[in-house]
Amino acid sequence: MSVTLKNITKIFTDPSNQAREVVAVKDVNLEIQEGEMVTFLGPSGCGKTTTLRIISGFETPTNGEVWISGTLVNEIPPNKRDTSMVFQSYAIFPHLSVSQNIGFGLELKGVKPKEIRRQVEEIMEVMTLTNLYNRRPDQLSGGQQQRVALARAIINRPKVLLFDEPLSNLDAKLRDQMRIEIRRIQQSFGITSIYVTHDQDEAMTVSDRIMVMKDGEVMQIGTPFEIYSRPANTFVADFIGRVNLIDAVVETVEPESISVVCGGGGEHRHKVITSWAGDFKKGDAARIVVRPESLRLSRMGDTAAGADGKATAAAEAASVSAATAEENGTARSEVPFLKGIIKRSVYLGPTVEYEIDVPDVKAQILAVTYNPVEEGFYRNGEEVGINFSSAASHLL
Ligand SMILES: Nc1ncnc2c1ncn2[C@@H]1O[C@H](COP(=O)(O)OP(=O)(O)O)[C@@H](O)[C@H]1O
Ligand SMILES: [Mg+2]
Repeated sequence: MSVTLKNITKIFTDPSNQAREVVAVKDVNLEIQEGEMVTFLGPSGCGKTTTLRIISGFETPTNGEVWISGTLVNEIPPNKRDTSMVFQSYAIFPHLSVSQNIGFGLELKGVKPKEIRRQVEEIMEVMTLTNLYNRRPDQLSGGQQQRVALARAIINRPKVLLFDEPLSNLDAKLRDQMRIEIRRIQQSFGITSIYVTHDQDEAMTVSDRIMVMKDGEVMQIGTPFEIYSRPANTFVADFIGRVNLIDAVVETVEPESISVVCGGGGEHRHKVITSWAGDFKKGDAARIVVRPESLRLSRMGDTAAGADGKATAAAEAASVSAATAEENGTARSEVPFLKGIIKRSVYLGPTVEYEIDVPDVKAQILAVTYNPVEEGFYRNGEEVGINFSSAASHLL
């Protein structure tokens, strides 16, 4: 079922100072399609829970309208809205078995025991809980308890499933598994869902679309790809992953591409695809946005430059990789867009992270390279060339 928010605003009075108003949600507009899973993502206090509670009816908006499958529900109480909430605290009954917990909602509705059993068995199978039929909650793992809570919410076939940071009580590994599980189950039932989290990885994993919020306002609504690769502003760029921002000036605007220059004398020229940039004209100040993994590093000169080539894991990897790098021609002939000096490197096994000083554009650039043994390794103090493609960059 679709959910539509029109100009939703919520103003609270500050409990510690009645004269002060807190604008928790400010003019939020959103349309969620049937079967879609949308995440509200943003730092703590940005209004995610309040927006969710307005949809469920536990909070009344100061302004605006909530529509659920074509019906204006502002005046409809929570229990008549046909939404179901999955909380982080499992809120399952400790004295009931798994099957009794899951079937509880149907029992309340007066469904016949045989039919309850059939539906409970069906849902337990989908949720891989089958052999836990008679278990008590205290005999379950955290992940199993979470699945029981989810099954209990889904069995009532709500129009909309609401999740408020459901995984924050679980340890990291289980959280990773459960997000994939939640997404699988949501898709297999096709239930329209709204998921609240402050964790960007979680949002990327479970969402069809993400609504990024800050201070009660919507910063951007888009697919995980759009949010990550075409952030609408520096807040989004920074909040979703790590990013490099390079100050530049717009030189020319063409239908296909925008050319910008950067550096003190404007000596570095870069092209960005026009449709990925905002509204720019010649002479405008802009920032090139590029993700660390989109940078290509190249060797500038003598590889023995290592200023402080101490016996670190990084240095060790460097000596192993030097030969391979030569062999693969990592010392590229490409003219570098920027040149920088490696300040710090962190060897993480599959990746190496470099902090690079680029005095020309007064920036510290973060680069991530993969497969260091094949791709080569740069030492602290070494000068490197930095390139990236038009497709991997974006203009704000
Ligand atoms: N009942 C309330 N009374 C007053 N202020 C509130 C109330 N509930 C939430 N707030 C405030 O509204 C803002 C948004 O809160 P919330 O929606 O819980 O954020 P989030 O879920 O993103 O962490 C915060 O500043 C919070 O302190
Ligand atoms: Mg919250």
